[in-house]
Amino acid sequence: MSKTIYEPHPSISKKAYVRSMNQYKEFYKKSIDNPDEFWGEISKQFYWETPADPNKFFSYNFDTKKGPINIKWMEGASTNISYNLLDKNIKNGMGDKIAFYWEGNDPEDYSRLTYKKLLEEVCKFANVLKSKGVQKGDRVAIYMPMILEIVVAMLACTRIGAVHSIVFAGFSSDSLAERMVDCKCKVLLTADSVFRGDKLLRLKEICDEAMQRSKKLGHEVAACIVVRHLRRLNCSINSNNFENSPASKPIPMTDDRDFWWDDEMEDASSSCYPVWVGAEDPLFMLYTSGSTGKPKGVLHTTGGYLLYAATTFKYVFDYHPGDIYWCTADVGWITGHSYVVYGPLANGATSVIFEGTPFYPKNDRFWSIVAKYKVNQFYTAPTAIRSLMKFGDEPVKKHDLTTLRVLGTVGEPINPEAWLWYYKQIGGDRCSIVDTFWQTETGGHVLTPLPGATPMKPGSATFPFFGVLPELLDENGKVIEGEGEGYLVFRRPWPGMMRTLFGNHERFEQTYFSKFDGFYCTGDGARRDEDGYLWVTGRVDDMLNVSGHLMSTSEVESVLSEHSSVSEAAVVPRPHPVKGECLYCFITPNQGMTFNDKLVAELKLRVRERIGPFATPDIVQHAPGLPKTRSGKIMRRVLRKIAVNDRNIGDTSTLADESIIELLFKNRPESVATA
Ligand code: PRX
Repeated sequence: MSKTIYEPHPSISKKAYVRSMNQYKEFYKKSIDNPDEFWGEISKQFYWETPADPNKFFSYNFDTKKGPINIKWMEGASTNISYNLLDKNIKNGMGDKIAFYWEGNDPEDYSRLTYKKLLEEVCKFANVLKSKGVQKGDRVAIYMPMILEIVVAMLACTRIGAVHSIVFAGFSSDSLAERMVDCKCKVLLTADSVFRGDKLLRLKEICDEAMQRSKKLGHEVAACIVVRHLRRLNCSINSNNFENSPASKPIPMTDDRDFWWDDEMEDASSSCYPVWVGAEDPLFMLYTSGSTGKPKGVLHTTGGYLLYAATTFKYVFDYHPGDIYWCTADVGWITGHSYVVYGPLANGATSVIFEGTPFYPKNDRFWSIVAKYKVNQFYTAPTAIRSLMKFGDEPVKKHDLTTLRVLGTVGEPINPEAWLWYYKQIGGDRCSIVDTFWQTETGGHVLTPLPGATPMKPGSATFPFFGVLPELLDENGKVIEGEGEGYLVFRRPWPGMMRTLFGNHERFEQTYFSKFDGFYCTGDGARRDEDGYLWVTGRVDDMLNVSGHLMSTSEVESVLSEHSSVSEAAVVPRPHPVKGECLYCFITPNQGMTFNDKLVAELKLRVRERIGPFATPDIVQHAPGLPKTRSGKIMRRVLRKIAVNDRNIGDTSTLADESIIELLFKNRPESVATA
């Protein structure tokens, strides 16, 4: 039997900022007993144009009965994030240090950016944004691939107090339009096209469609700035047949609206005085799926987020000066915001930023990059680990991975099998694994091991980070002490948590604070074991987690129901060996319509086009009827059982028509019938 506890390797603990559980407990206690002092001390690492009032370092209300929910850290202080991430590091002698190594989709495409050069680019682009009329508080939508300009764009926004709203460049034009309309962005930033593996994504075309749709919905962007990315790539230029290659295809540009990034940058001044913003002024917003379908614009503010992204990065990855760090997440997700951009730069770190996929040109790409840059900390998702495990150990063994010290995972619970493979094959039984639990809403890690201190249990996110007070509650809101399982909630804010949903504070209160008075509700369930370790068990609401991407069942259902042949649709998650979960859809056709392969293909395509390729359903099943309660509510619990062919469906006494269940079991598509 494999052991259940893995102690940090002595070589890791010896160098770590936190070297033992006793030390962790000491820091943690201080952060809980005296948060003002704890975070006040940390805030001294940064520059504040107006310092915070030490006696009013933070204030909050988590109880809707006592008034509106509010969370404030360092109110009254002012600063600028780009100043702290760039100018301050440069003043400390780090100007020539590499901020990012950029590794392109093709191994022959790579570049690097020093802190000094990054500041210069940020200032120039901030001036470009100003020339397009962008001012403090304006929203800037970003739909870009993993290129250095996405970092420049984000920090240029922060330079002038504008609020970036990044949309992952895998979302469809409809999803992009919906988000642009909701945040009323003034400008949109994108690139011509990008290769992901051997697939070409024409981003500007998607943006054109999105801008058209946004206009129809009543919101017009003033400008769209486009990076000329494809044409500068070696892999494009060196292709034998350049004239016929995708790189040579002209990109349609609309006069007075569309501009090339490089043209605009040519004459822009490389100095831009930072706009000082309040600690509680918005820094960025980022949409995340909501269980009612419409995406939620999670809003993060400046001061607290800076403290939290910086501190979690330092302690959770145990980053020391000189280390090379690599997070594979796309900047379009919160992981990319906090742990590709803000956290690393706030620590003056050197990171790798990677444009491609783990499988291109071969399945050893991740490991070849680790070896190429001598990476010390590597952060990825369980779904990536599982998909790479499939290829066995051969691709791993080809590369020297001995520089690695800390391996991170995020996005979903990691199954012990994947954990062990990561630990042994990638980490050489030597590295610490940090299974970091957090959310778009939490801004940074909230449950996580610390590499030099926490004995690891495969699959457990272990203990809270500094300043975080988790609780497990039962259905009645009673706190579960000791061993047990319940709703995972937090009793008190930490600096990096969200402040509101953009333009909808009521929905913010409703979604996160209405279920249990006085607690922030994560929407996840968790278990506490006999040693006090926390194990996140997954969503307790109608959300799916596909390859670490959250989406709501109702979001997919509404896309399916819009098809003219569909009367009703219900979507549930089904476990998937690589993606964690996949979408299993039950479709009731309209009277007189037949359910056939053509309809299945159309429905899959529709979800792909409307939401994005990552949301494509795996299984679409014919459902002559759906299991409903007498009041008409779909019993998804029953559908989840049917999806996995589990006849143990529990109590069905509230069902209006029990006979439908047998029919649905019988109708399971053949390809999944035995699963
Ligand atoms: O269900 C939890 C799962 O991902 C959700 C948050 O998704 P998102 O806001 O997209 O952010 C993902 C990156 C931070 C959570 O509510 N989740 C994330 N990390 C873990 C996890 N579940 C278990 N273990 C984790 N380490």
